Amino acid sequence: MDFAAILVAAGSGVRAGPGAAKQWRDLGGKPVLRWSAEALLAAGAQSVVVMVQPADRALAEAALAGLSHWYLADGGDTRTASVRNGLAAVPLTPDVIMIHDAARPFLEKRHVDSLLAALAEADGAVPLLPVADTLKRGADELHTVSRDGLSRAQTPQAFHADVLRKAYATLGDDERATDDAAVVEAAGGRVIGVDGDPRLMKLTYPEDFDMAEALVSAGRGVRIGQGFDAHRWGPGYAVWLCGVKIDHDAALIGHSDADAGLHAITDAILGAIGEGDIGDHFPPSDPQWRGASSDIFLSKAAELVRGKGGRITNVDVTLVCEQPKIKPHRQAMRERVAEILNIAVDRVSVKATTTEGMGFTGRGEGLAAQAIVSVETST
Ligand code: CTP
Ligand code: MG
Repeated sequence: MDFAAILVAAGSGVRAGPGAAKQWRDLGGKPVLRWSAEALLAAGAQSVVVMVQPADRALAEAALAGLSHWYLADGGDTRTASVRNGLAAVPLTPDVIMIHDAARPFLEKRHVDSLLAALAEADGAVPLLPVADTLKRGADELHTVSRDGLSRAQTPQAFHADVLRKAYATLGDDERATDDAAVVEAAGGRVIGVDGDPRLMKLTYPEDFDMAEALVSAGRGVRIGQGFDAHRWGPGYAVWLCGVKIDHDAALIGHSDADAGLHAITDAILGAIGEGDIGDHFPPSDPQWRGASSDIFLSKAAELVRGKGGRITNVDVTLVCEQPKIKPHRQAMRERVAEILNIAVDRVSVKATTTEGMGFTGRGEGLAAQAIVSVETST
């Protein structure tokens, strides 16, 4: 089912303590807002309208760089006002609107799917968790409040767009609600619950960040990939290796620029994330890759890693040839590979060896490259 999302990120995060508001803070290497935006897009949102304070637009643009189908709009003084502004900014179609707190980074597609399914029989659907603790009212003298029939409501909350718009239209200017279901309920709409999830926790207090970091680490896995490539020597005056052009008395022959170093690294990355090999993504039979600069291949592999919420942690490539001498170019190669992958130079290693005259590289028939990479993934 098609849906648009409103992602509310215009709060000041007072309860999370001093420093930047919680949606801009780092969680496992990226801002909290990016986690929730990526999750909504990965769950199928057609568009995500991100509500931020006007002064925070630059922060939001930096946090969301490289993602598509998101738009910024001005949040208000209260969450209710931010959602109201969001409804004015969200496209008139599709028929379902999902509203999500930016401060809930661990949204998954399955949460969204169960909300969408529930809309077949209701105006709105919200994730609910049972109340596990005993509830008390008062400070000096406590009174126990029955928790019978009580649940905690999380986000995202999904609604048929027309019902949600009408409900917000009937809300007085000064009225506020802590969630959107409350607005729809008050207008007579039928909202039902689906299974909530402790992972949909809202980062509210400083210690919530420690718990969230622990969840990120627990969910992360390391994957290793290896790649190998070889190209034949032919007539020419220069060779491309690891993205660097080296003057030489021969050239490597290949369909693209024959940069065996970048090809081996590309294949290693694809291997680590189970995405086939370079030929699957850039078939040699396709004329558009004739003479292509191999940094295109490597950038694409890095993009696939990012699309899976992963990051490349290190790259180690060995070039096997008698000539040219690699050492004088090694640092330039490391820098170029790091630049293409958008990682630190100290995470890239370039090594070289001869085979002491043995085999095809030793006889000068061709050059080979072998690479290994590690990728940290969120699953
Ligand atoms: N929110 C918003 N506009 C506001 C207030 C809140 O878009 N004027 C958003 C927050 O950015 C957050 C979500 O609503 O993603 C849930 O609100 P809450 O957890 O209360 O966040 P804050 O208001 O930022 O935090 P606090 O109440 O501790 O100040
Ligand atoms: Mg608040």
